[in-house]
Amino acid sequence: MISLEISPGIFTLEIEGQKRLATRSDDAVPVYGERILESFRLWDPFRSKLAALLLKSRSTMPALSRDARVLYLGAATGTTVSHVSDIVRDGLVYAVEFSPRSMRDLVRLCERRNNIVPILADAARPEEYAPLLEPVDLIYQDVSQRNQAEIACRNSDRYLKPGGEFILMLKTRSVDVNASPQAVLQEQIKKLQGLDLMPALDLLPFHQDHFAISGKKC
Ligand SMILES: C[S@@+](CC[C@H](N)C(=O)[O-])C[C@H]1O[C@@H](n2cnc3c(N)ncnc32)[C@H](O)[C@@H]1O
Repeated sequence: MISLEISPGIFTLEIEGQKRLATRSDDAVPVYGERILESFRLWDPFRSKLAALLLKSRSTMPALSRDARVLYLGAATGTTVSHVSDIVRDGLVYAVEFSPRSMRDLVRLCERRNNIVPILADAARPEEYAPLLEPVDLIYQDVSQRNQAEIACRNSDRYLKPGGEFILMLKTRSVDVNASPQAVLQEQIKKLQGLDLMPALDLLPFHQDHFAISGKKC
């Protein structure tokens, strides 16, 4: 098996003639059924929008240092959180999720890793987790809500360091199921104040009606 580190903590593996994305971990327990090969955890772009973004445009993904701090909004049961935790192995992932059911699985993952802080809270009310957080290098947001841009602004105003990076995985159908995805995208982009944005990326063929909007705090 040939491995290549394409960005800090992110690898491509050549397996049976195919290139696959992976991160590295000492945790030998699969989080979502992923294959683990010699401590490399395969990262599935159909399960994780961040992996899809990396495959579509590596330059859109900020190079995260090993000790980076990440605020992750919409952690669910930890599929993508686990890979982010692998990448920032000496840093911290503040993982916000409002579903108690998903949080139960997430807490199990946190018990095996010491760099994830699980936070049961509504990402639309960032003031509620202020006592738990310090300013972060990256905010990653993946919440299927009507007001995704507002949630992004509230959290970045409060917790993103100046010059810090932001990735919003926009699910257009959650904002307006009847409007065209492009119209929803443009309307949400207009609401993202205080962020210097890169061109949005469609996540097809991995995720339908999803766009990655990345940027930096001005
Ligand atoms: C598409 S799933 C996230 C998948 C996850 N990011 C991954 O890649 O593994 C969206 C998650 O956001 C959570 N969510 C939705 N609205 C939220 C809110 N306002 N605050 C916190 N979590 C929220 C949902 O409960 C759900 O678990």
